[in-house]
Amino acid sequence: MSSHTKIKRTTVSKIAARKGGEPIVCLTAYTAPMARLLDDHTDLLLVGDSVAMVLHGMDSTIGVTLEHMIMHGQAVMRGAKKALVVIDMPFGSYEESPQVAFRNASRLMQKTGCTAVKFEGGKRMAQTIRYLTERGVPVMGHIGLMPQLVHVKGGYRVVGRHSAEWAAIEADAEAVEQAGAFAVVLEGIAEPLAEKITKFLTIPTIGIGASAQCDGQILVTDDLLGLSEHTPSFVKKYADLSQQIDRAGEAYAKDVRARHFPGPDHVYGMKLVRNTKAS
Ligand code: KIV
Repeated sequence: MSSHTKIKRTTVSKIAARKGGEPIVCLTAYTAPMARLLDDHTDLLLVGDSVAMVLHGMDSTIGVTLEHMIMHGQAVMRGAKKALVVIDMPFGSYEESPQVAFRNASRLMQKTGCTAVKFEGGKRMAQTIRYLTERGVPVMGHIGLMPQLVHVKGGYRVVGRHSAEWAAIEADAEAVEQAGAFAVVLEGIAEPLAEKITKFLTIPTIGIGASAQCDGQILVTDDLLGLSEHTPSFVKKYADLSQQIDRAGEAYAKDVRARHFPGPDHVYGMKLVRNTKAS
């Protein structure tokens, strides 16, 4: 038997068991190197449909397809060995019926090896959440600000800032939990409402622009690294990689133009050939 201990990947039960305990650390990842770098620091990596804007330069998440999510999901699974990997179901791949959602979710799981999927919607998606979880697909819910509704809502608006909105959002949270989701993302929800939902749900809440009282937090990794063109106000920047990349690009261009790169250490010399012929 090999002396190597196999590293075990975090399971959905382990995430669910963290309710009310140590905060769950989640980030997005779309590529193998980023997943490898974040694997030691996170409990959960989300292959978010935000990949549409972050890596593909699209205006919204609407243009991303199942094929994109499969390709990025496979890359993340190659890079991450410990974190639970969840993949977003893209717009158009789950809303039509529970059956269509199951077909596409099972395809995502089979092609990538991911453990779970996430999709947007509270009450209106409860039947689909139940259908999938009963058939072996762990689901992470997503309520509050739902970016895939951008064209219906006419933009991205934080919800729950008026108490009249609370009941519907609370009902969404309850519906997602009762349908069998193992956790739920609370996006762009006024702080006191996110805190209230976290208190009454028995599944973990993962906040983004929500509340420090949520059971976990998620951010778009490129935002916290300072790589995004526009950084939302709820993001704390932990690095300024845009500036570093700009400086590195500038320094490289200067070296190439001055013929300072490549230097002697960056080129291949000749190999010495020994003459073995006897005289
Ligand atoms: O697509 C995404 O990145 C998300 C967020 C919750 C981070 O859904």
